Amino acid sequence: MITTLSGAEVWNLSTLSAACVGIIINTFHDDGEPLIASMAFSGIAFALTFSLIRWLGDVFMKANLKGRDMSKPKKIEIPETMGAVCAVVYLLTIIIFIPFPFYKDIVAATSGGGNEESVIGPQFVQTGRSLHRFPHNKLASYLSAILSLQSVVLLGIGDDLFDIRWRHKLFIPAFASIPMLVVYFVDYGVTNVVVPVQLEQYLGKMVNLGWLYYAYMAAIAIFCPNSINILAGINGIEVSQSLVIGGLLLANDALSLYVAPSTPFPHPATDPHLFSIYLLLPFMGVSMALWWHNWYPAKVFVGDTYCYFAGMVFAIVGILGHFSKTLLLLFIPQIINFIYSAPQLFRLIPCPRHRLPRFNARSGLLEPSVIQWQQPPPKPVALLMDMLANLPLPLLKVEKNSTGEVVKSTNLTILNLWLVWFGPKREDRLATELILMQALCGVLGLFVRHQLALWVFRQDNRE
Ligand code: UD1
Ligand code: MG
Repeated sequence: MITTLSGAEVWNLSTLSAACVGIIINTFHDDGEPLIASMAFSGIAFALTFSLIRWLGDVFMKANLKGRDMSKPKKIEIPETMGAVCAVVYLLTIIIFIPFPFYKDIVAATSGGGNEESVIGPQFVQTGRSLHRFPHNKLASYLSAILSLQSVVLLGIGDDLFDIRWRHKLFIPAFASIPMLVVYFVDYGVTNVVVPVQLEQYLGKMVNLGWLYYAYMAAIAIFCPNSINILAGINGIEVSQSLVIGGLLLANDALSLYVAPSTPFPHPATDPHLFSIYLLLPFMGVSMALWWHNWYPAKVFVGDTYCYFAGMVFAIVGILGHFSKTLLLLFIPQIINFIYSAPQLFRLIPCPRHRLPRFNARSGLLEPSVIQWQQPPPKPVALLMDMLANLPLPLLKVEKNSTGEVVKSTNLTILNLWLVWFGPKREDRLATELILMQALCGVLGLFVRHQLALWVFRQDNRE
């Protein structure tokens, strides 16, 4: 592991940082254009994360934050939990960014910010400054996002340090989402869902889900972080899938903002989408720096911290941006992987500590990894496995002994399934193909959301 920056890297990163600082200072001359400032902050976050990952590699190794790369001929140890670096830089960035989206409001609501000479009239003596004009609700959303994220990052670091049990860590994101759900309740509170045209005659135009809607949002907060963590185990896959989801969410925001100005009044979707952009841009910045080091052949591992952190960023923008259903369309591979993994997650089929594909040292390729059955599986499970293995497109591979009992079967992850379908592959090839599939599913998801939605709903609200 290289622990210093090369001369060219120092030059490039310093130039990038200096340009970004210049842009941020410049935004003060105008009215503090927050979108431009957010981009510049993301550039600085990239440079900082990139450098810190290099500098801290050895420190992490010494603190025993390391892992063995299992898909290489020499199973060397490299630093793990580098997602913690991303998460810390990210949190600092969005905290420093707080004044920017509220700059105009601060100027309007206080006598400061270039408004010093205005005198507070006697009518304001009781109320002080006209702070009621300040959008406290927007600030509350932003702060609750930070609070929820911090809780999840704590969980991630705890998991990387102590390997928390599955059943315990499953629910922590649900608790972490409470601040955000409270803000949702007070600020927005919509728990109605639009009914597809075909079902309107039975259910009416809208159905109020009430508290169930909050349970649904908590479920999203549990699902997003965990689903990224279980679609993992080959170099680069965790960060790449997050970059694709983040990129498509940004495209969706841009699309919504592009359409919004055509209305004569500020479109209601504008603010949530801007909010989403402010949270996603620095996420892309820190993730790209991590990607650089985690792509094949990996120099660092991302750790569970990154998976939880990334998943929670998505859950937060989906929920507070009011587009949680669109978000799920971008999680199609993760949803399929979760459903496919369910028999192992719920212990119908044994679940080993690791399910990542097996490295064949002779060929240098990855093959589907298998479970060794100590005792033959119970009858119904064996029957189900037989059925899945004999489909025209087999969903798993089994190996039987001479008496017809299952002795081996492939682990149920889509990484293994891909190898069952298309044969052994090099690690980077497998990662690239899966990421292309993720991107394709996402683009298709957004297309369905914006084009085909009109078949089942009366209008596309572009939210
Ligand atoms: C989850 C998966 C597990 C998978 C693991 C890999 C479930 C229920 N759990 O467990 O099946 O094996 O992620 O991340 O699906 N590693 C590599 N190469 C990589 C990335 C990771 O060899 O590119 C290995 C390293 O030894 C690393 C370890 O995986 O130390 C990290 O595993 P960890 O994140 O702790 O596993 P879980 O998230 O608990
Ligand atoms: Mg993990």
